[in-house]
Order: sequence, then C-alpha cells, then structure tokens
Amino acid sequence: MSEILVTIAGTGSYVPERILTNAQLSVMVDTTDEWIFSRTGIRERRIAAEGEFTSHLATNAARKALEQAEMAAEDIELIIVATITPDTLTPATACYVQRNLGAHRAVAFDISAACSGFLYAMKIAKRLISDGAFNNALIIGAEKLSAFVNWEDRSTCVLFGDGAGAAVLRQAKPGEGEVIATEMGTDGNQTHLLNIPGGGSACPITTDNAGDHLSTLAMLGKEVFKHAVTRMKEAAEKVIERANLKPEDIACVIPHQANLRIIDAIADRLAVPNDRVFVNLDKYGNTSAAAVAIALDEANRTGAFKRGDHIVLVVFGAGLTWAAAAIRW
Ligand SMILES: CC(C)(COP(=O)(O)OP(=O)(O)OC[C@H]1O[C@@H](n2cnc3c(N)ncnc32)[C@H](O)[C@@H]1OP(=O)(O)O)[C@@H](O)C(=O)NCCC(=O)NCCS
Repeated sequence: MSEILVTIAGTGSYVPERILTNAQLSVMVDTTDEWIFSRTGIRERRIAAEGEFTSHLATNAARKALEQAEMAAEDIELIIVATITPDTLTPATACYVQRNLGAHRAVAFDISAACSGFLYAMKIAKRLISDGAFNNALIIGAEKLSAFVNWEDRSTCVLFGDGAGAAVLRQAKPGEGEVIATEMGTDGNQTHLLNIPGGGSACPITTDNAGDHLSTLAMLGKEVFKHAVTRMKEAAEKVIERANLKPEDIACVIPHQANLRIIDAIADRLAVPNDRVFVNLDKYGNTSAAAVAIALDEANRTGAFKRGDHIVLVVFGAGLTWAAAAIRW
C-alpha cells in the first residue's frame, strides 16, 4: 500500500482589532519605541477585547482556513488547538472551538508546547492522517497573552500580543503539496527560563499571593535568546536535510515571530537570504503558538511562495521546546 501523504489545504488567521503601539506602551511603563524596536523589531501588537477569548480568536482563524480549504466544519474529523492561554484549564479550548464551528464529528483537544505548539500540532496531525486514523485535521495556534502579561514589567510586557492562525491538513491527492519532514525537541532542564509560575497545582493563586504577579509570564530573556538561535538552527537543518533540500531550494523560511535579531541570526546561520524570510512581528509582537500560524497564512495569502515551492517553518518556546517542518506547497 502506498504511503498516505498529507497536504495543507487551507490557512487562515485572525487578530483582534485593538492596536497597542510602542508609543502607547511608553506611557504605561518606563520604555521607548526606540528601545523596543531596536531590541526586538516590534512596533505594535494586538490586544483582545475584554469578552474576546482565545477560543474566539481560534474560531475566527479556523473559519478562514476552512473557507480556503473549501471544507465544511461538519466534515472536520480532528481539531487540535495549541495554546498556553486556554479559555479555561478544563475543558480544552479545542472543545469550545468545536462547538463554535459546529464541527460535531471532530475529536478535539489542546496541546501545551508554548510557541512551538503549532508545529507540534502539525506533526501530530500529519502522523494521525498518514496512519489512516483521520482523513483531515484542523490545527490552530491561538493565544490571548494579554491576559497573562504583567503590564507593570517592562522587560516582558512589550514583547507579547494576541492572535490566532489555523491550517487544514488532509490526505493529499496526486500532484498536491506535501508536509515532507517534521522535527520536534524538548529540554525540560530549562523550564525556569520562561514560564507562568502560578495558577497551576504547584502554586495555586490564593488571597495571600494574588498581588505577586505569579500568573503572568516570567522570562530570563538573554538565556532564552541563546537557546532559541541554537535550537531553531538545528531543527531547521534537520528538516532541510531530511527533505533533501539545499538552502537555495527554499522559497520562504517562516520562523517563530519573537525577535528580529533571533530571526536574522538564524537566516544567517542557514545561509538563506533575508528577503526569503517572512517577518510580521513588527505588527503583532510575539503571539506564541499563534505566531508561526499567522505568519504562514499571511505569507500564503500575499504570495510569498507559490504552488510547488519548498518552505521551512521553524519555532522555539518555553519548555524549552522547538520544532520545524519542511513543506512542498
Ligand atoms: C528581552 C530582550 C529583548 C532584552 O534585550 P537585551 O538586549 O537582552 O536586554 P537586557 O535584558 O540585557 O536589558 C538591558 C537593559 O534594558 C532594560 N530594559 C528591559 N526592558 C526594557 C524596556 N522595555 N525598555 C527599556 N529598557 C528595558 C533592562 O532593565 C536592562 O537595564 P539595566 O542594564 O539597567 O539592568 C532579549 O533578551 C530577547 O529578545 N530575548 C529573547 C526573548 C524571547 O524571544 N522570548 C520568547 C521566546 S519564545
């Protein structure tokens, strides 16, 4: 029996309407547009409205991906939401998305792999489809990070934003594109570098610690930076090699959108020219699991690559986690 290949049939993304600029942030904390832009490449980010949750962002992105894939919600068999900012600790955000879409046939669950979550979801979905367990899957990276940011900490609050990106994966028909190679990695010895320490079973939020900002993101930025460059380079190289590609064969690299200096360092190490590296973090900041998914959709819809082109996605996040994918579009 020939192997079942898996293709990306459609992508979609959604960001909230409200824009928070660096200038506006500089009124809230002791920072400047110059500091933020020169250190990160970020100009502004989107902030979800009060009643707008991660599941709403995810649902909006999913609808666009389904539309592009020309697929009805009731035909979706699997929904995976990658998020570290779920609507509720339980049930999974994917269950709310399933309800919102009316995707009543779909099995739905979340995964927690921070900024690497979308590509973790891609690998899981690819394998479950190629094994024949499901015919298709809707994978979504969605975050409302604004609800988990300490808005008094200038070293973190300038970095993050809200948004969602989605993709529909299904069995490929002859001649269609293919998710060729995927790679994932984890280093649990570095959990302390980037985390939300409170709100889980290790450190519940109580009336005594409620003012200590324990349920917001804490990060050792410089350390994270070094690991990010090394791990993303290694992961990208692995999928490039497994897909039998050379740097000059790659039409577009879509990296995790956290910091322009990290992205430039990786492009340099992979010997891919900067004009083949997709960047949109100036508009959205770091949206964790959503970032690479939004970037993939924007790159797809703006013609950064075309049918038959090879693209490489590469991500990195808390855990530490990292992942990459090589795709023929
Ligand atoms: C966060 C990051 C931008 C900080 O840049 P940096 O060059 O390492 O800056 P430092 O942390 O050394 O801070 C330098 C100074 O700027 C200050 N600073 C921090 N945030 C600031 C801000 N928003 N505005 C102005 N000054 C700021 C610090 O207090 C420090 O001051 P000090 O020297 O007086 O102590 C950078 O480390 C980074 O991007 N790391 C990776 C983060 C990341 O991508 N995480 C997500 C991965 S998924």
